[in-house]
Amino acid sequence: MNTILQIQNLSKTYQSAERTLTVLENINFSIDAGSTVAIVGPSGSGKTTLLGLCAGLDRSSAGAVALNGIRLDELSEDARAQVRNQHVGFIFQNFQLLPTLTALENVMVPLELRGEKNVQPQALELLDKVGLASRAHHYPAQLSGGEQQRVSLARAFSNKPKILFADEPTGNLDAETSEKVVNLLFRLNQDAGTTLVLVTHDLELASKTQRILRVKGGKLVSDERTGV
Ligand SMILES: Nc1ncnc2c1ncn2[C@@H]1O[C@H](COP(=O)(O)OP(=O)(O)O)[C@@H](O)[C@H]1O
Ligand SMILES: [Mg+2]
Repeated sequence: MNTILQIQNLSKTYQSAERTLTVLENINFSIDAGSTVAIVGPSGSGKTTLLGLCAGLDRSSAGAVALNGIRLDELSEDARAQVRNQHVGFIFQNFQLLPTLTALENVMVPLELRGEKNVQPQALELLDKVGLASRAHHYPAQLSGGEQQRVSLARAFSNKPKILFADEPTGNLDAETSEKVVNLLFRLNQDAGTTLVLVTHDLELASKTQRILRVKGGKLVSDERTGV
């Protein structure tokens, strides 16, 4: 098995005037390419922080993050942005679509950032895959939460990422819409052979992945295989 992500002695602290807040403490794990992993744990335990560090959205205070062999902790903000655009897809709990762009344009952005030409047909194909070809020219505000999350899935897969991170992708969706989004997430993931790392406190969703990492108080407290 190839390792796509390796985390070593990872810590994240925030410094304020009077004290140091330790949010993540000495985390170690690696993730096999092509596998599916859930990160679970109580609210405030550091899951979002951990995902952001793994994806290169943020930088560690100490320790190493190697994504596809690239040491993210040693890179500048700009260099990390480039690695993200080349290798990483990210799905946010609150979708984070650009409000002034249509669904289609939102999906086109990562492709354009890569310098690809003629990106519109590719973006339309992706929107079609998530069942939203007919909403291509609508703005996020004209779409339901579930539809916005499907656009963000299309966007996240647009650069054919080696690894996809999803932070509570169903946290803002009702049960029925959640199921649709989850099925789509796993299907797109399987079709593209992408590694999937998701944060959730839905244990049913976590049990659909091959491995569950549990975080508590900024520490990794368990690491189990589900048998999937
Ligand atoms: N920029 C920041 N400055 C200070 N503290 C932060 C910052 N971001 C997150 N935290 C703190 O880190 C802890 C973990 O947050 P988070 O990673 O969002 O947890 P989770 O996603 O598990 O709910 C929380 O106590 C939160 O208040
Ligand atoms: Mg969170």
